Amino acid sequence: MTMNRSPASLGGSPAAKVPGETKTRVDSTPSRKRSRSDRASESPIKDQQPAKRRSPRRWNGDREENCIGKHNGSLANGKQLGSPKSPRKRLFGPSNQKPMWNPRDPAQMQAAKQALHLATPPANVVCREVEQKKVIDFCKACIQQSKAGSLYVCGCPGTGKTLSIGKVQEHLLVWSKEEEIQSPDILTINCTSLTSTTEIFGKMLVKFRPSSKITKNFSPLQHLQKIFSQKGQSSGRMMLIVADEMDYLITKDSSVLHDLFMLTTLPFSRCILIGIANAIDLADRFLPKLESLNCKPVVITFRAYSKDQILKILQQRLMVLGCDIFQSAALEFCARKVAAASGDIRRALDICRSAIEVLEAELKDPTEEKETEIVSFDHMDIAISKSCKSPLVNIIRSLPQHQQVIMCSLVRLFRQHKNSTTLGELKRSYLDICKSTQIRPIGMTEFADMCRALADQGLLELGNSRKDRSKKIKLKVDVSDITFAFKGIRFFQNCLE
Ligand SMILES: Nc1ncnc2c1ncn2[C@@H]1O[C@H](COP(=O)(O)OP(=O)(O)OP(=O)(O)O)[C@@H](O)[C@H]1O
Ligand SMILES: [Mg+2]
Repeated sequence: MTMNRSPASLGGSPAAKVPGETKTRVDSTPSRKRSRSDRASESPIKDQQPAKRRSPRRWNGDREENCIGKHNGSLANGKQLGSPKSPRKRLFGPSNQKPMWNPRDPAQMQAAKQALHLATPPANVVCREVEQKKVIDFCKACIQQSKAGSLYVCGCPGTGKTLSIGKVQEHLLVWSKEEEIQSPDILTINCTSLTSTTEIFGKMLVKFRPSSKITKNFSPLQHLQKIFSQKGQSSGRMMLIVADEMDYLITKDSSVLHDLFMLTTLPFSRCILIGIANAIDLADRFLPKLESLNCKPVVITFRAYSKDQILKILQQRLMVLGCDIFQSAALEFCARKVAAASGDIRRALDICRSAIEVLEAELKDPTEEKETEIVSFDHMDIAISKSCKSPLVNIIRSLPQHQQVIMCSLVRLFRQHKNSTTLGELKRSYLDICKSTQIRPIGMTEFADMCRALADQGLLELGNSRKDRSKKIKLKVDVSDITFAFKGIRFFQNCLE
């Protein structure tokens, strides 16, 4: 019987800290994901004043539109950085002369923000070489020996798990071509996109056996089990399944997770399964049966990024610009703060982009005394304050998730230049979001209670009409504060779209 392969070199390293807890679902429908805002609020960056503050600078509040809203689509194509018409080329100039940084040039500003944008894939995934090698070695061993196996990749949010496993896939395809080995058939699934947990088996079957006839007598899982249990049923090609955000597959009885991992233990299995999630103990807690069968997946832990790693990643991403646009003390300050709080690189990238916008706003303001043309310690300090110390942003980030969805519904309504709405209209906008994000909506009474709770916190104003539905609602905070609070959190980005 083919069991899980665990090459000796692949021991799981102990985790530095306990990443986000996992959720158990009672049915087979994915429940809401534990939001990144919950996580963010768990690790507020500690207040630390810089040694010296010079001129206070005006803050330009519409940063969200500047760096995410407008440019998201184009940024998704990393190739743009190198294209002849790209801001980068203009930054470098036609010859090989040293690039001149001109912060008043919108194209250069844009290129700088782009280099730090989450959607811009870095040329190299620095600081994750060891983890990537472990995964690559594991997969290569499986492919070379035509043996099934499973890996579980875990770690805190923003530690490069998804990015690294994406690079591993690219590497394996290049390697198999070079070695003239049949490349694995790869299926990458973000489990948050599944409408039911068992849908993963349907996707696997369609990918690996498109010709398989789905009969009423057999579920996709049973088909897969059959294929992997009988000699000659599966093709010779290895299958690499990457199940990202795997905690979405946790059900009350853990049967989906269990069945998924068990597929790699069947005698003629060809599956290499890589599960990715935040919880370090997902396998221990939810797959005790696998352990008793000695089929526990190999665990690879991504530790939170340290200060030096964050600094290196930022410097590496900025290298594409060819000139210094941050004072080194500013970058170090950001790296130190983020490492002390969470080690989430998304946070560091967001703060650096915000710091560029602080400089941008300062240069546009004729009343400001201009001390520097590059992002200074002071600019960074303002960006960090805005991101981490704003009580309003913190309040929004620590609201219960349904209240956060209500805040997103308000943004959607008030973006349309409205001054007020009614509770009934807000409920409709909220229901739209629930539908598109597949979360279970709350009833009208609970909804009205939540709006009252938001009003009590000063986030909105609720009218006195006797009927709940007709109650007038006014937003008491800036739309940009709400979008800023949810910046970089995929779930809420979807809600806001
Ligand atoms: N080593 C790195 N070098 C450059 N950029 C990085 C690195 N690690 C992460 N990033 C950036 O941070 C973003 C988030 O990383 P990634 O999605 O891999 O995190 P994750 O660990 O999967 O987080 P989550 O648990 O929230 O899914 C990436 O899209 C990338 O832009
Ligand atoms: Mg991820």
